[in-house]
Amino acid sequence: MKALILVGGFGTRLRPLTLSVPKPLVDFGNKPMILHQIEALKEVGVTEVVLAINYQPEVMLNFLKDFENKLDIKITCSQETEPLGTAGPLALAREKLIHGSGDPFFVLNSDVISEYPFAQLIKFHKSHGGEATIMVTKVDEPSKYGVVVMEEGTGKVERFVEKPKIFVGNKINAGIYLLNPSVLDRIQLKPTSIEKEVFPKIADERKLYAMVLPGFWMDIGQPRDYITGLRLFLDSLRKKASVKLASGPHILGNVLIHESAVIGEGCLIGPDVSIGPGCVVEAGVRLSRCTVMRGVRIKKHACISSSIIGWHSTVGQWARVENMTILGEDVHVCDEIYSNGGVVLPHKEIKSSILKPEIVM
Ligand code: GDD
Ligand code: MG
Repeated sequence: MKALILVGGFGTRLRPLTLSVPKPLVDFGNKPMILHQIEALKEVGVTEVVLAINYQPEVMLNFLKDFENKLDIKITCSQETEPLGTAGPLALAREKLIHGSGDPFFVLNSDVISEYPFAQLIKFHKSHGGEATIMVTKVDEPSKYGVVVMEEGTGKVERFVEKPKIFVGNKINAGIYLLNPSVLDRIQLKPTSIEKEVFPKIADERKLYAMVLPGFWMDIGQPRDYITGLRLFLDSLRKKASVKLASGPHILGNVLIHESAVIGEGCLIGPDVSIGPGCVVEAGVRLSRCTVMRGVRIKKHACISSSIIGWHSTVGQWARVENMTILGEDVHVCDEIYSNGGVVLPHKEIKSSILKPEIVM
């Protein structure tokens, strides 16, 4: 089977992290977002992943080359010369997707995180005989998503409304699809929205089905959702593979610490923290609800909560970093500094406190 991941876009809502790497390569739970997806696809027998991309394909391919070998899966790029939306890229990659078989193929939005129940999706898709299956999940605020109205029991989709202005329902498109090759015949090679132009038509013909996604789901394309997503991800890891989580008297709740990270004496870490490879956390540090990416140093008695610390940054001793502070790559926060929601661009040194949420250029 094949899969296409919609990678395009500049990831502006996840700046300053996306100033260093394309959004799918931003680490989440100690691993680039897209690797979570590729590994799960590999597990259900996908042999080739096509990245639909309109920006920096070399960066992606160079990075993923290692994983191609490690995971024994083919990863290729399909590059647009103009953004083709969420359906146009399928037309562009048509030959790769249908090559040699009539198998259905997966399509994923690159910024969604879940347990990726692909095996169940395949089973359901085969059982209903329709043309396309989408995964749906319930959310409290459906207006920023694609809303799906479906028949309980069969899962047949009655309506698909992208970003509705009035309430239509609370089940939304999770950005995970399994499509028959015939769907490609409905898409032309031009900028097209799968949500606005393709799914509503298939639904009208009663050939679109939806399956409620078991387990958690989050679109992690924005910092606040990213931090919530980490909590849900670690919760699910606790249920599935709790051995991967840290334990000990200095750990509170769910914490993921890379084996190469060094943790000093007298720290208190958790809940909902991930600490990446090569990090050094000195004595007496307090961390909660935060992501600490590869190569970060956190000096003695610093306190970090609800924040993201980008690659190779340092946080000085007795510093206090909180309230959605996002440090880009290689940022240096001096000793005793307070950051309240600072969004700091890469390679900056922070010598005075940031007292209210603001962007530091
Ligand atoms: N290759 C390519 N080209 N990819 C694109 C383009 C493009 O022109 N435009 C968007 N994408 C990719 C994005 O990178 C992302 O992975 C995916 O398509 C969806 O785009 P978003 O910009 O993240 O859309 P959204 O979050 O507002 O809404 C979508 O996702 C929701 C779930 O998170 C829709 O699919 C909604 O229906 C859905 O509920
Ligand atoms: Mg999105």
